Amino acid sequence: MALVTFTSPEYRDKTVYAVAGSHTQTVLKLALENKIPINFECEDGECGTCVVKVSSIDNKLQRMGGPLTEKEKTVLKQLGKITQAELEQMIVDDLPSEWRLACQMIVRDEDIRVEY
Ligand code: FES
Repeated sequence: MALVTFTSPEYRDKTVYAVAGSHTQTVLKLALENKIPINFECEDGECGTCVVKVSSIDNKLQRMGGPLTEKEKTVLKQLGKITQAELEQMIVDDLPSEWRLACQMIVRDEDIRVEY
């Protein structure tokens, strides 16, 4: 069971449980199920409206955040959140970007903070 804390300057923080291991539950789906007022439009990794900043608050040494989808790479570059050089470094380091699209990021068994 992973703990996901949603935080925003406009709303009170809310921490919810995520069922880890389903490999289908996105951060956006989890937010909507828990009535978190996160912005979104297309739900398909095209518009960039759901961009969030994700950080690990787990004590595990190994990060579990999954890799960026191709759609995330394209949109996050368009939004200026990541550069091509940073993308290449992420592959070398095997670490995802802190910027993610909530509709694309699958929740893993890792406690995270999601800034929206
Ligand atoms: Fe459009 Fe996520 S809602 S990219």
